Amino acid sequence: MYFSGIQPTGKMHIGNYLGAVRNWVKLQQPGNQNIYCIVDLHALTDKLTIDHEIKFDQNTKSDTLSLAATLIASGINPKQSVFFIQSHVPEHAELQWILSCIAPKNWLNKMTQYKDKKKEYSTLGLYTYPLLMAADIILYQAQYVPVGLDQKQHIELTRDYVQRLNSLFKLNIVEPQYLESTCPKIMSLRDGNKKMSKSDAIDGNRINIDDSKEEIFEKIKRSKTDSIPQIYFDQDKRPEISNLLRIYSAFSNLSMEQVIEKYLTKTTVDFKRDLSELIANELNTIAQKKKQILNNQSELEQTLKEGSMKAREIASKNLKLIKENIGLLV
Ligand code: AMP
Ligand code: TRP
Repeated sequence: MYFSGIQPTGKMHIGNYLGAVRNWVKLQQPGNQNIYCIVDLHALTDKLTIDHEIKFDQNTKSDTLSLAATLIASGINPKQSVFFIQSHVPEHAELQWILSCIAPKNWLNKMTQYKDKKKEYSTLGLYTYPLLMAADIILYQAQYVPVGLDQKQHIELTRDYVQRLNSLFKLNIVEPQYLESTCPKIMSLRDGNKKMSKSDAIDGNRINIDDSKEEIFEKIKRSKTDSIPQIYFDQDKRPEISNLLRIYSAFSNLSMEQVIEKYLTKTTVDFKRDLSELIANELNTIAQKKKQILNNQSELEQTLKEGSMKAREIASKNLKLIKENIGLLV
């Protein structure tokens, strides 16, 4: 069973797409059970805290619908996968509470995501974010969690909770495994040592899924490269061009060797133009489909409701088992 989630925050970019979503689509194969979730409760850690103040974000609802449309347009098939909104399945928050009662507090202190984000603001939600994520995964007894590299630590923590639950309460919950895509860490377009990120204040550092062809060409044109005219891969000495090569390889479905051979005698200008074209073509197909999906919002909402009903069926059964084993009257 494959489970993963994505937050409806900021602008989804090609890092999310190549690091996670495209892999989710690939994993939709006969015989696989796939559950994909828009984690709107996780997003509240961002959505309710704006400029260091607790505030209400007017866009949360539309961001959720827009992301749902993007995912379906990218190839998530709600008939094949269970596709739903986290807050529609109350069992997630319920299991989070139970986990918080068995989890030593110091386990959360080592989480790098919290350490990175807490400089800006600090709520209890941000601190216990990994518990909710562990609850998401445990609730469906996921075996594999396809996510980007930045989420690996969260999966490892989830395994620690599973081991604790299993040993303390005679449960037999599956230990989830981190599943890496071919692009686990896409870097910023202007700094090859920094992750491409939704929360980056500079829009030019990333390519958003909704960017127009013109924006894509402009951003790639302005992306950082070095003074070496040849195009070749060297992660340590040439992180920026190596990142662009990785993106090219992913969008073209060519191996790195094939890409390098193709551009051996070409200029960076040629390479960047072809790369822009590749990205723009794929994102344009997604944009067209997304537009159609958003034209029929009630159908989209109905699809999400049906997804949450399927998810709840699985979640409630697994939660009941945990509740019984920890001694609650069910
Ligand atoms: P988020 O936007 O934090 O909800 O992330 C959604 C998914 O995208 C997660 O699986 C992340 O690990 C993945 N992801 C985010 N940024 C990147 C990146 N720069 N490269 C690869 N994967 C990423
Ligand atoms: N924390 C993940 C991210 O920021 C999103 C997420 C929440 C998730 N719950 C999950 C991913 C469960 C995989 C499984 O990307």
